[in-house]
Amino acid sequence: MVSLKNVNKHFGALHVLQNINLDVSKGEVVVIIGPSGSGKSTLCRAINRLETIDDGEILIDGKRLPSEGKELAALRADVGMVFQSFNLFAHKTILENVTLGPIKVKNMRPADAKELATNLLTRVGVATQAEKLPAQLSGGQQQRVAIARALAMKPKVILFDEPTSALDPEMINEVLDVMVELAAEGMTMVVVTHEMGFARKAANRVVFMADGEIVEQDTPEQFFTNPRSLRAQEFLSKILK
Ligand SMILES: Nc1ncnc2c1ncn2[C@@H]1O[C@H](COP(=O)(O)OP(=O)(O)O)[C@@H](O)[C@H]1O
Ligand SMILES: [Mg+2]
Repeated sequence: MVSLKNVNKHFGALHVLQNINLDVSKGEVVVIIGPSGSGKSTLCRAINRLETIDDGEILIDGKRLPSEGKELAALRADVGMVFQSFNLFAHKTILENVTLGPIKVKNMRPADAKELATNLLTRVGVATQAEKLPAQLSGGQQQRVAIARALAMKPKVILFDEPTSALDPEMINEVLDVMVELAAEGMTMVVVTHEMGFARKAANRVVFMADGEIVEQDTPEQFFTNPRSLRAQEFLSKILK
């Protein structure tokens, strides 16, 4: 579903993505973990083409990433993204936040978009908040709306970039629970997170990145109990403290 081949990217002198090779199959859940600054967000942004790459190739469902125009809009619809900060439109209601993409990008009829959005808001547990503005919701609720908004585009894959790291601790699980459900339903997901509970429950594979490179990858069980590289061992000993 997602395939990166020999992907390289620089920010000036910084080689932020170093010869990245990564394949994510349909229905697979891949957790990306690694120290701050290792290139995890850049990788997600490259997959969604919010960042260009210097060389290599990124394929979504077998198709090369288009560079601009209508094709790029279609690709963006195929690849959902949920960020650390919720990025909802502050002056639109929760319902409007979810219907906007289907109406504008997919030319869905407003009535159909409303029905779809209502179903999705029910699924993530915030249907009663539909007429409110984002600021009236808790962080956990806003992040669940962001997931509903991504789902409304019927994406082939959803990228999550540290979706719970801006949340108060008591709200983390309500968001992770929605993500675990999505994973169980067969959604293809790439998730940057340090939530080991989520990784163990939902991930097929953990990819460990450091300094722009994929250092190792393994099943969650193997990676967390028996990391092979020194860098992964050091990283885990820090986050386990
Ligand atoms: N737009 C940018 N311009 C220059 N450097 C950047 C830019 N975005 C990220 N970086 C740098 O690239 C490195 C990787 O960043 P990032 O992908 O955000 O890492 P992570 O998500 O793993 O913390 C960091 O050193 C960061 O400072
Ligand atoms: Mg990041």
